Parts: sequence; C-alpha cells; structure tokens
Amino acid sequence: MADATLTFPPDFLWGTATAAHQVEGGNAKNDWWAWEQRREGRVHQDDCSGDACNWWVGLAEADIERMKALNTNAHRLSIEWSRIEPEPGTWDHTALDRYREILKKMRDSGIQPMVTLHHFTSPTWIWEQGEGNATGWLHEGIIPCFRRFVEKAVTDLSDLCDTWCTINEPSVYGAQGFFIGNWPPGRSNLNDYFTVVRNMLRAHAAAYEVIHDVQPHAKVGLAHHMVAWHPRSPGNPIDRGIASMLDKMFNGLTLDCLQTGWYRPLVGGSSEMPEIRSTLDWIGLNYYQRYDAWFSLRAIKQLGISYAARPGAPKGPKGWGEYYPEGLFEHLKRLHQQFNLPIYITENGIPDEDDVSRPAFLLRHLQKVWKAIQLNWRVQGYYWWSLVDNFEWAEGYDPRFRFGLYSVDFESQERTLTKSGQLYAEIAGARTLTSDMVRRYAPELLDELFPGRGPQDMETVIAVSRG
Ligand code: GAL
Repeated sequence: MADATLTFPPDFLWGTATAAHQVEGGNAKNDWWAWEQRREGRVHQDDCSGDACNWWVGLAEADIERMKALNTNAHRLSIEWSRIEPEPGTWDHTALDRYREILKKMRDSGIQPMVTLHHFTSPTWIWEQGEGNATGWLHEGIIPCFRRFVEKAVTDLSDLCDTWCTINEPSVYGAQGFFIGNWPPGRSNLNDYFTVVRNMLRAHAAAYEVIHDVQPHAKVGLAHHMVAWHPRSPGNPIDRGIASMLDKMFNGLTLDCLQTGWYRPLVGGSSEMPEIRSTLDWIGLNYYQRYDAWFSLRAIKQLGISYAARPGAPKGPKGWGEYYPEGLFEHLKRLHQQFNLPIYITENGIPDEDDVSRPAFLLRHLQKVWKAIQLNWRVQGYYWWSLVDNFEWAEGYDPRFRFGLYSVDFESQERTLTKSGQLYAEIAGARTLTSDMVRRYAPELLDELFPGRGPQDMETVIAVSRG
C-alpha cells in the first residue's frame, strides 16, 4: 500500500536538547545546587541534582553516540557559567577543555551543536554582586558580567560552534524565580519579574554584540518559551482580558521588546532600549502546552487569575497544561509574522513516565511543523526535549516528569531507547513522516493526520466520480 508522506527539507535540522545542570552532574558552584542543598521541600522529595546523567565525568560521549543512533544531525546543549567562571574574572581552563571535548565529539559525529549560554543557572557569586536586595539578575550590574563570560566562552569555543542561544526562556526564569518563587532565588514580586526579564533582554543584546565581534559569521538567537493562553469562555470579556494579559506578560513582552526596542511591562513605565532591537539572527521557540485562563473568585489573592488545562483534555501531570499541537502552529505563525526570521523549535516535548503518549505527541507536533514549512515560514530545525531523562528542576527526579527519548535508570546510569525514540530515529533518518509510521506507532491518529481514504477505497472513489 502506498504511503502518504510529509517530506521535510534536506537541510532541516533534526535535533535533541539538554541543559548543563540537568545532565552534567556535580554543578556545585551554581545557585540551583545551593538551592537543592537547602532541602526546604521546594524540589520534589527534596531531590538534589547530584550526578544527573553524569555527562561531566564522561557519559556525554556515549549519549552523543545515541544522538547518532537517532539519526539526528543537531543538538542543543548549554554550558555552565559557574564552571567556566567559578569566581568573578577567574577562568577555569579545564572546564573549557571539557566543553571542547564534548563539542568536538559532536562535530566528529555529524551533530551540529547549538550552545546556550544561560539556561536557568548562574554562579553563586552573582548573588553577592549588586546593591541592597537588588543582586544578581535583579541588578543591571549583571549585564557586563554576563557579557564578559560570553566573550570568554565564545572566544575559546568559536572554532567548534557558530550557533549560539544567548539565554533560555527569560519569562520562565523570571516567573519561577521571582514571581512564583519556587526556583532560586525564591522571590515573589511582580516588579521583580519585570526587572529580571528586562535585565535578561539587555544581557541578550550585550551578548549578541560581543559574539558578533568575536565571530562575525555567528548565528545568534534566544529561546523563548510560549504558552497558548486561551479564554475558558471566549464569550466572556473578563476571561478574554485575563488570557490576553497573560499572553502579553508571558509571550508578548519579550517579543515586542526584541522587535521594537520598547519594554512595556504591565506595571511600571515603558522604556525604550534601542540596543535590543535587531539582535536576533534567528528566534527559538520552546513550546509545550496550552492553558485556559479565566476569572475565579476563589483565586482572589491572585486577582482572580486562574489557569489550567481544559477539563477532560489530554494533559500532563500535576499542573502541566493541555497537549495542543495547534498551539505550535499558532506560535510559528506569530513569530513568522512578527519577525520573518529563521525559526528553530528549540524545545518541544512531553513529560511521560511510560512513553505512552509521547509517540502521538511527536507525530502531531511534527505534522504542524511540516505544515508551517509548506507555507514557506522559515522553520529550520526542531530540537526535541529531551535526549535523555534528566533533572527536571523543581520536579527533581519525579518519574512523572521524564522527557527522554532514552529513559535513564539513575541508579545504574543505564539508558534504554523508548518507542518514541525509535519513531524519532525513523523520521529523522527518512527526513519524512509517513502514514505507515502513524499506522505503526499511533494508529488512532490516522484520521487526524492523514484523513484521506486509503488506496483500497480508490476504485470506489473513481467509480463514484465517473458516475
Ligand atoms: C523548559 C526548560 C527545560 C526543561 C523543559 C521541560 O522550560 O527550558 O530546561 O526543563 O522546560 O519542563
């Protein structure tokens, strides 16, 4: 039986993604490590990242072999600022050499690296710099510090990498650490959120400039997390207002500033930072979920703002949102219309302990990527989160929050290829998604992804059309 096929461009990047603190192990000089040691119940079962996936002491290499086995040709990883600059202005060349080894191994394996320069963790010393309570990312003094680190790292690694992601998810970092308060430094203040996102955007712009000074042909961007916020009752103006406010605060603020140079927080005055305009060679989209937003008197402490997955919709564990592939398409459209730049999907994935829902999730989202490419939007790569199960921040090693194409036994460090890993390897190997793959991995999706009749019905179709 002939297959229906969705073919991807030959130069499309098929990737996976990881972050230093989540896989390396032993990152004892950063703020997340210090936070874990406090054991105040803010990480699932007070888990500590510990050895994580042991990349630092040698397991990165075998995992790079696994990238090859998945037929991927790209990987997004991050480098750990606190390893490279453990004290202000002091460089650890052994750490830089280890990153050189890892990047070299990737390149020798045909895996094109994208290096993220800040993925949620910072050296503990940044929290001693600043004035009063405004230290670390709350203080603009962080900008020259970050720039100095970026200049050093890029200078030393530029022969091995030319695609740089300055900062991962300013809005998630700001929300979790400074507004919700369940990540370090554990603050809960809306103004702090806006201050931190602004400082991160300024640090991004400084990094953009210094990277291009060091490596003129570099391709520099940032990974932006976008949630699909929809009103629970579209006919209700208050729900619509709340969804639109969350969208502005979480999705739009960063994009607007990168496009126009204007920073327009919901509280406090707007300011123009022209140096931020035009600091993207590409834009990265991290997309996972959709939430309904609505007004509820029960949430009066949060000004009535409530959000959750739609009742009955397929969703992730705990407060995770709804799986909603159309949201990926909506965001790609928005990025295309706003920037008309190359787009990388720098993260997309699903927490799925037993790999039950993951194959269907992957197929449904990739079909949206394909559709976006057919419309000539400049989607150039897809990085699955994640290659291996790893330390999932406040969720620690909670098995419900496993994202890997390879599952990991954290006792033995053994990896096992999942069914979704096999599927990704087939798709990346063929650069094509076929109806046959859907039939084998998630037959329930055939009507959704390939709604036409099967060839066995063709004779009837022809007979009917001939009258
Ligand atoms: C992203 C984050 C990753 C990973 C992922 C899954 O927001 O960048 O580090 O944790 O979520 O939750």
